[in-house]
Amino acid sequence: MIEIRPFIPGDRESWEPLWQGYLTFYKASLPAEVTNATWKRLNNPAEPMHGLAAVLGGKIVGIVHYLYHRSTWTTADYCYLQDLFTADQARGRGVGRALIEAVYERAQADGAARVYWLTHETNKDAQALYEKVASRTGFIQYRKVF
Ligand SMILES: CC(C)(COP(=O)(O)OP(=O)(O)OC[C@H]1O[C@@H](n2cnc3c(N)ncnc32)[C@H](O)[C@@H]1OP(=O)(O)O)[C@@H](O)C(=O)NCCC(=O)NCCS
Repeated sequence: MIEIRPFIPGDRESWEPLWQGYLTFYKASLPAEVTNATWKRLNNPAEPMHGLAAVLGGKIVGIVHYLYHRSTWTTADYCYLQDLFTADQARGRGVGRALIEAVYERAQADGAARVYWLTHETNKDAQALYEKVASRTGFIQYRKVF
């Protein structure tokens, strides 16, 4: 049975390798101060940023982060699902799906109008999951980095 629950501050040691695994997957690395700030924000109820852990066999094997923001198109907030990661050894057991569905549940309960996210066009594994739980929008992302 997969248990999905919010992070508690004591989860940092379990969260960090999964967070780093996710960054490595996207060939990214972040300064320690960013990881520290992210962890703090995920555990601060005053922040619009939240995280959930998937626990299997007593171990955290998956994580998801999501945040709320305003929309000009609705009075309700939108929920952006920013990061999703399942540990290698726990893949294919429904962890990713359970994390997405848990975000749906919470976003709905919090009054959000939608949950949405991005993935890289080459990430076919993730798309195999996403095609089962959501619809593809056809929008493409542009970015200007400062
Ligand atoms: C994408 C990822 C989160 C999927 O996690 P997971 O826990 O293995 O996914 P699930 O077991 O919940 O899979 C759910 C469904 O998606 C499908 N699926 C997931 N991974 C798949 C794969 N590699 N190949 C084919 N189908 C796959 C499964 O068939 C499953 O369908 P079912 O529930 O009807 O059997 C995981 O592979 C991962 O962490 N990848 C690296 C990081 C990443 O890509 N994150 C997302 C970035 S946008």
